[in-house]
Amino acid sequence: MATTSEMQRRATKSGENRKRAEEVLARCRRLASFSEDQGSLRRTFLSPPMIDCHREIAYWMEPLGVQVRVDSAGNLRAFYAGIRPDAPRLMMGSHLDTVPNAGAYDGMLGVVLAVSLLEALGGRKLPFGIEVVGFSEEEGVRFGIPFIGSRGLAGRIDEELLGSEDARGISIRKAVENFGLNPAEIPQVCLTKDYLGFIEFHIEQGPVLENLGLPLAAVDSIVGQSRLEFTFFGRSNHAGTTPMNLRYDALATAAQWITAVECRARNTEGLVATVGRIEARPGATNVIAGETRLTLDVRHSTDEIRIQAVNDLVDLAKGISDRRGLTIEWSVLLEQRAVPMDSFLMNEIEKSMKAIGCLPHRMMSGAGHDAMIMAEKIPAAMILLRTPGGISHDPSESVAVEDVEKAIDCGLQLLDQLASSNVLQERMGLA
Ligand code: GLV
Ligand code: MN
Ligand code: MN
Repeated sequence: MATTSEMQRRATKSGENRKRAEEVLARCRRLASFSEDQGSLRRTFLSPPMIDCHREIAYWMEPLGVQVRVDSAGNLRAFYAGIRPDAPRLMMGSHLDTVPNAGAYDGMLGVVLAVSLLEALGGRKLPFGIEVVGFSEEEGVRFGIPFIGSRGLAGRIDEELLGSEDARGISIRKAVENFGLNPAEIPQVCLTKDYLGFIEFHIEQGPVLENLGLPLAAVDSIVGQSRLEFTFFGRSNHAGTTPMNLRYDALATAAQWITAVECRARNTEGLVATVGRIEARPGATNVIAGETRLTLDVRHSTDEIRIQAVNDLVDLAKGISDRRGLTIEWSVLLEQRAVPMDSFLMNEIEKSMKAIGCLPHRMMSGAGHDAMIMAEKIPAAMILLRTPGGISHDPSESVAVEDVEKAIDCGLQLLDQLASSNVLQERMGLA
């Protein structure tokens, strides 16, 4: 049984962490005010509001005496040294870019929570350093290709990727230069120091935890995803004079395929497939569309099932176009396998949940996360927070202050556990 003084210490800590949780939410909302769009949040890779976002986070961290910098892939990196300045590092954070018309918590919560955990340490040094990272790009909005920031750390930004262009014809290389960074230095972003692992807090973005009545979960694996781009080529013509049987309508053909995509996913357990963007050209009421561009996003926890679905959907697109006398082109923008999280870190997260009185729960993440890229390089793990209504990628996205408080309790407990863990001592060469 806890002693009176232990109970008092916990109560004080709990009051402090509630205040921290309130501040975390206020800070996320503050970051959400830095947007490319008036009246809604959109902050894509290295867009001007990202500068404000970096400046704001650096300002919060000034009192902590940490070094804050922006690496050549546009990631914010802040280093809080351990007891020994050269001690290995634990990395914590998430992404700072957003989808269009975004909520305030997807990605940002993970960065702000990491800053809050450093503050909660109150200057206390751990046997390892802590590096907070705010990834420059996870969503794939500007270039159609996600995880640009974490790919930098994993050493996976190559010439081909740097040449990818956004809708205005600006390449990633040029965007990096325009932000005042040097693309030639991107290879140096690849992690070489001794990192013990990466921990990412993130909203669940789905309804599972709410349905279970649980505030937090440890992620056991992150689903694999494929992203593709399709173009259907027909013939544009007059909408009034061209009989229905003599048309090569690229939009109607695409529409037939979109419903086939939905049907294919509905008929396979656990498969999700989305056409999230469509653009018809020339795009006028009285002109039959001659060309339609679409995106496809396919996810499943089993890579073989996802890959088979993608192949089937390409075949369906070809078949539907052939029958209507159209042609198609397609390209693969992303092919990301499903990734398990590190079992040691996962166990420690569950232990920390138990220690703060939360029922531990493990679940798969249906959303993609930087942790899946970091897992290629260092042990990675994630903690999900319950998402009210399961709503995300929408301005009504939210998270409860009580759950953020639990996440802070859990994070501090986890840091303490890791600081005294024999496994980490061994990894750090201290045992
Ligand atoms: C990121 O939010 C994704 O899963 O698409
Ligand atoms: Mn995210
Ligand atoms: Mn997202």
